[in-house]
Amino acid sequence: MDKKVTVIGAGNVGATAAQRLCEKELADVVLIDIIEGVPQGKALDLTQAASIEKHDAKITGANGYEASKDSDIVIITAGIPRKPGMSRDDLISTNAKIVKNVVENVVKYSPNSILIIVSNPLDAMCHVAFDASGFPKNRVIGMAGVLDSARFRAFIAMELNVSIENTHAFVLGGHGDTMVPLPRYSTVAGIPITELMSKETIEAMVKRTANGGAEIVGLLKTGSAYYAPASAAVEMAESILKDKKKILPCAAYLKGEYGINDLFIGVPVKLGSNGIEEVIEIKLTNDENKALMKSADAVNELKSFLKTL
Ligand code: NAI
Ligand code: 2OP
Repeated sequence: MDKKVTVIGAGNVGATAAQRLCEKELADVVLIDIIEGVPQGKALDLTQAASIEKHDAKITGANGYEASKDSDIVIITAGIPRKPGMSRDDLISTNAKIVKNVVENVVKYSPNSILIIVSNPLDAMCHVAFDASGFPKNRVIGMAGVLDSARFRAFIAMELNVSIENTHAFVLGGHGDTMVPLPRYSTVAGIPITELMSKETIEAMVKRTANGGAEIVGLLKTGSAYYAPASAAVEMAESILKDKKKILPCAAYLKGEYGINDLFIGVPVKLGSNGIEEVIEIKLTNDENKALMKSADAVNELKSFLKTL
């Protein structure tokens, strides 16, 4: 392949993302983890699946960063996931140290790469990566909104018994309890869901979306969701690698857009070969704007907490 993607963290999200990247033949993949043998073993296993899955992507596992040299994109999933009873925010101290160390190593070998951050708490980890990398804001992007919107789309399709391909959904804000699903901008075949469902049904779906991660943690008990998170990170990578210029909700560093300054938070962005090529500002109602500001306050609190570490 003429593109290279490194995935840091060969756990549930990282290994699944590596699998999807190979099977879509988007890039050669390097899988890195601190645990000896795990990235090498998973890379070998994926290599042995290639003849059956019919792809020619090369996949390598490593514990050091040399193999990641000159990556186009680095997806960072290293860290601990939450367990039942934990919020994403409970992970902050441990994951901030991990993400800082990871990013410092990434930058040495791939100074021109684009970072897609997955580790939680997502918006705070984007700040850690932004500071540790020194990269411009278009090259540090957080994955959350694509996942949260995918969850919303799944619930819409289930409720209306329609093809999920006909659905579109937008979820803005931080990747936490204060996220802001936007029913007005969520559609089925172009029709806003506000025309298709009762207010009560939409409210229940909005709540389920905001609780989407916890619902899966409650079922799995030993970790958090990974199939949909991996798909979401790979959709972002694909838009960048192929310069597709998809408009996707991602955590982006805002400099005044939506009246928010110096903060990573989920907003619609255009993703192309330069990373975030544009932040799309959509009109919000007073209530939607209030909800976004509340979400920004929650992210700001985490950002302040980072300074105490
Ligand atoms: P996991 O526990 O299965 O995998 C994490 C991997 O990171 C482990 O293999 C671990 O050995 C590795 N790791 C730890 N420290 C490392 C270091 N310094 N260098 C390299 N690797 C290191 O966890 P999972 O389920 O893959 O989740 C990973 C992270 O992604 C968690 O923080 C989780 O909360 C987050 N997440 C975020 C989502 C989002 O929407 N942004 C969605 C799903 C997960
Ligand atoms: C999720 O939403 C844990 O953030 C992760 O599934």
